[in-house]
Amino acid sequence: MVTAFLSHNSFNGEILMKKSEKYQLMLKQAHFIIENETDLIANMANITALLKSTFGWFWIGFYRVDTQANQLILAPFQGILACTRIDYGKGVCGEVWQSGQTQVVKDVHQHPNHIACSALSQSEIVIPIRNQHGEIIAVLDIDDDKLATFDEQDAYYLEQLAEMFQ
Ligand code: SME
Repeated sequence: MVTAFLSHNSFNGEILMKKSEKYQLMLKQAHFIIENETDLIANMANITALLKSTFGWFWIGFYRVDTQANQLILAPFQGILACTRIDYGKGVCGEVWQSGQTQVVKDVHQHPNHIACSALSQSEIVIPIRNQHGEIIAVLDIDDDKLATFDEQDAYYLEQLAEMFQ
């Protein structure tokens, strides 16, 4: 059915692509970016731009672990102004830092520990970023202004992106 087909696809420029196809293309571009640059901040900056241009989500950004302060500190992002520091275990980002597990939040208003940087944010996914020793050095936080934007498919592909930082 055409409607079923369209509901699983969206426009990316003039090309109608399934979400999985967008992810596969994005991962190839991300691999190229990260393979050709060693600077972490530069790579984080370009990855947020790549995700924004590919998917158009509301807010995409990294928070880096500061072990001295025991906080996450805002790093490169695309979107509106955001909280600069998040304590260990606080918010979805702090929970992911603590647990080491990706979290998909379908409705942020139903998640008691969620930190609202914007009233427009409705759903969220947070992925841990590890170094080559397996230590969590950052999280990738993505928010959307629609409910239930993210699912297991997003987690699957975004975890592959996260592994490129090792
Ligand atoms: N919502 C996040 C805080 C960061 S902002 O969304 C950019 C959280 O609950 O950890």
